[in-house]
Amino acid sequence: MTDLLLAIVHHLIVFGLAAVLAAELALMRPAAMSPPTVKLLGRFDAAYGMLSLAILVVGFVRVWYGAKGPDVYLHNHAFWGKIAAFAVVGLLSIQPTLRIAAWQKGLKADAAFMPPLQEVGKLRRLLLIEIHVFALIPIFAAAMARGIGYGAG
Ligand code: HEM
Repeated sequence: MTDLLLAIVHHLIVFGLAAVLAAELALMRPAAMSPPTVKLLGRFDAAYGMLSLAILVVGFVRVWYGAKGPDVYLHNHAFWGKIAAFAVVGLLSIQPTLRIAAWQKGLKADAAFMPPLQEVGKLRRLLLIEIHVFALIPIFAAAMARGIGYGAG
């Protein structure tokens, strides 16, 4: 039962993360930038931070308290591939998060605040890379769930 509940919550958070990333990509366009969009980006990025923390906690709870036990994952290359991809996504999200937070300050100081459009374009490219690395995570997950990659010592 614990394993089933963890799996359900894990999947719901994963879909939430994918939705938030897609929303951020849709909003992060130089041509569509406006003060309300900056505000929305701030909200989505806060949700993204909370969901990332939640998947980290639920993911590791699954490793330790899931039906298979930790050894199955900790000795699996695909598991570590998944964790590495997750870490890369986290690293790629640092700059967008810092800039989106700075924009919120700009918006508080001036209701007509607009971020530099060149910066918006740069963050859009970063988000695109982030989403592609994110897509690797379920690929690793499907492999590890089937024992592919097991035997990492
Ligand atoms: C640190 C973060 C994470 C940890 C520790 C973690 C851990 C796990 C564990 C232990 C399972 C169970 C596999 C099994 O049934 O044997 C699992 C399944 C899964 N995870 Fe994660 N996960 C994390 C993040 C993510 C993220 C961010 C995604 C999606 C982008 C994701 C997608 C999946 C999918 C799709 C499955 C189901 C695989 C299948 O049954 O075919 N996980 N994860």
